[in-house]
Amino acid sequence: AEIDQPLLERHKKPVCLIVLGMAGSGKTTFVQQLTGLLHMKKKAPYVINLDPACREVPYPVNIDIRDTVNYKEVMKQYSLGPNGGIVTSLNLFATKFDQVIKLIEKKSENTEIAIFDTPGQIEVFTWSASGSIISETLGALFPTVVVYVIDTVRSVSPVTFMSNMLYACSILYKLRLPFIIVMNKIDVVSHKFALEWMKDFEMFEEAVERDKSHHANLSRSLSLTLDEFYKDITTVGFSAVTGEGFEEFLAAVDAAVVEYETEY
Ligand code: GTP
Repeated sequence: AEIDQPLLERHKKPVCLIVLGMAGSGKTTFVQQLTGLLHMKKKAPYVINLDPACREVPYPVNIDIRDTVNYKEVMKQYSLGPNGGIVTSLNLFATKFDQVIKLIEKKSENTEIAIFDTPGQIEVFTWSASGSIISETLGALFPTVVVYVIDTVRSVSPVTFMSNMLYACSILYKLRLPFIIVMNKIDVVSHKFALEWMKDFEMFEEAVERDKSHHANLSRSLSLTLDEFYKDITTVGFSAVTGEGFEEFLAAVDAAVVEYETEY
């Protein structure tokens, strides 16, 4: 359903969305589509690029980590490889994160949503000190929601689906913020199967059993664990290419913010 009352009227501060996902899940395309739709249908979002190694950002960006740290220079200066360079760049940026906060706060009057695009290698954000600093700082100051983007096309394999969900589960456990799963690329494959698996444990069991490559007992106990996890999260289908799922996504953000306000 269309949300009539602007988020801003209910939440005095911008809602921060931290967009995470495996490489190739479509984070950047998702942020691009979301930014475009928000520009068109709601208030312009405030967009922050946290990926120091991306070549180009295909959407209008308000703060870009690449303006502050030169990832190639960081690699040279500290004799680091590509991954070390990205982690160190993010660490350097995190030391100036108070300035980012000030800029978002300045925009509070007319910004409903601030979107953070993260590095392509997800663990750079989820397993680094700077990722924790950034998510904890945002979570303490603004209604903050983690948006975990999943490649639906690749997830039709139950084992891949489960691995991805376990990863999502570990991020939820670590970041402890309201969590939305975006099943992306539904223009290619509908996410209906995923909703069924998440709702009905036995349907997932059947799918796993059809897949001969699994370790039956381990899969069973893992999917039981995931069953608990599913109760705490919202899943929406989305296409970063067509924009399908936009309204549903906004409704999920709204619900996540309500959760933030009551639990955090
Ligand atoms: P990294 O740059 O590695 O972090 O990848 P990313 O997660 O930002 O993914 P990116 O947005 O670069 O998308 C990866 C590929 O998936 C690209 O070829 C996109 O065009 C494609 N893609 C992204 N979203 C969709 C979608 O909703 N539908 C379809 N069909 N393709 C998509």
